[in-house]
Amino acid sequence: MNRIYLIGFMGCGKSAVGRRLSFLLKLPFYDMDKEIVRQVGKTIPEIFEQHGEEYFRQLETQFLRNFKQDHCIISTGGGVTMRKENQKIMRNTGLVLFLDAPFREIWRRIHRDPNRPIVRQSTREEIEALHKSRYKAYKQTAHITIRTEFRTLRQITQYAA
Ligand code: S3P
Repeated sequence: MNRIYLIGFMGCGKSAVGRRLSFLLKLPFYDMDKEIVRQVGKTIPEIFEQHGEEYFRQLETQFLRNFKQDHCIISTGGGVTMRKENQKIMRNTGLVLFLDAPFREIWRRIHRDPNRPIVRQSTREEIEALHKSRYKAYKQTAHITIRTEFRTLRQITQYAA
């Protein structure tokens, strides 16, 4: 279906790269988290607090199942790739790009963000362990892995485009 999915851990640059790719390739850009927030009418922290993480995971899968737009760029939430069904949908409907950023850079970007409930509730060590535990799923789901270290946004998007 000619979509491009950007996957990877929180703070790896999916939204920034997605927006830039969308500009370069003249394709519409969708940020899954933002789409879910719009559909539900609640922020991500509110969804986690009021309904729990599992409910949020169901919303992510529902979004992927029901999304109809072709020829677009989709930036996914960092946990989307952990479900087998989501992996399958993404691989079958588009090209999956994994943005592989080093953990210290990820931590620098996310550790003060109040909008990421998982980060708010965890220590650096716990988030690092989560990053490690998810890494294999990102690698296996992606058609292409882009290591972002030492690359500028322009270089990353040129490579992806
Ligand atoms: C999450 C990542 C977030 C958001 C939610 C949960 C995760 O998206 O979906 O806070 O489990 O890694 P980003 O990767 O865009 O920060």
